Amino acid sequence: MAVSIKSDREIGLMREAGKILAEVHARLGEQIRAGISTLEIDRIGEELIRGYGCIPNFLNYNGYPATVCVSVNDEVVHGIPHRKHILREGDIVSLDTGLIYKGYHSDAARTHAVGTISAEAQELIDVTRQSFFEGIKMARAGNHLNDISSAIDRYLTSRGYGVVRALVGHGIGTRLHEDPQIPNFTQRRKGIKLRPGMTLAIEPMVNMGSWEVEWLEDDWTVVTADGSLSAHYENTVLITEGEPEILTLV
Ligand code: MF3
Ligand code: CO
Repeated sequence: MAVSIKSDREIGLMREAGKILAEVHARLGEQIRAGISTLEIDRIGEELIRGYGCIPNFLNYNGYPATVCVSVNDEVVHGIPHRKHILREGDIVSLDTGLIYKGYHSDAARTHAVGTISAEAQELIDVTRQSFFEGIKMARAGNHLNDISSAIDRYLTSRGYGVVRALVGHGIGTRLHEDPQIPNFTQRRKGIKLRPGMTLAIEPMVNMGSWEVEWLEDDWTVVTADGSLSAHYENTVLITEGEPEILTLV
């Protein structure tokens, strides 16, 4: 499939979808504390999204059973919320969620500390977030997709982190997952040329140890193979004539 270029009207709707999701994430982040269950986080996320008149786009996507992917410690992504999974002081928790506004999707992820965490865990969270910003420095019309991928990869790999390879970012618009796929690791090919009007979900997933991952029995939850901590940071981004516009940050 060709990579879609959004019209001005579509960009307006993508901006609104992004702005609402940024608000949802800000309010979800305020809920993070020791003692809350991952299912409560999901419930609050769904309530917030529906409260804005939007539709949760993860819910029932390929059978995924929740609105928010809640991934704790060595869980990389797609953790399934559960009432018996209670956050504890010292955990790190990645929240990944998205919504549909008037037919247009937004998608974003944040990793939060639960109370006081180790310096290494905080460093992982900070480096993961920064790797996204290293990537989008390259997200400019005329550059190629691999300029983004390799910038993220170089930043993380030079610091000794494991860049997850089994999952990638993606185009986004009238569907949650559109072309192109956006790896967070260097490709042999330059990839497509970036053009104004492309909307991309860029989402580095970063392990403290090896890049290798496994799937749990539930067939969704991705965990690090070596049990090390993992963090995730994602925004929906618009390619413009100039600076990229981060749609899911307020
Ligand atoms: N943000 C993730 C992605 O882009 C999560 C979606 S998977 C779902 O792939 F099944 F949970 F919806
Ligand atoms: Co995504």
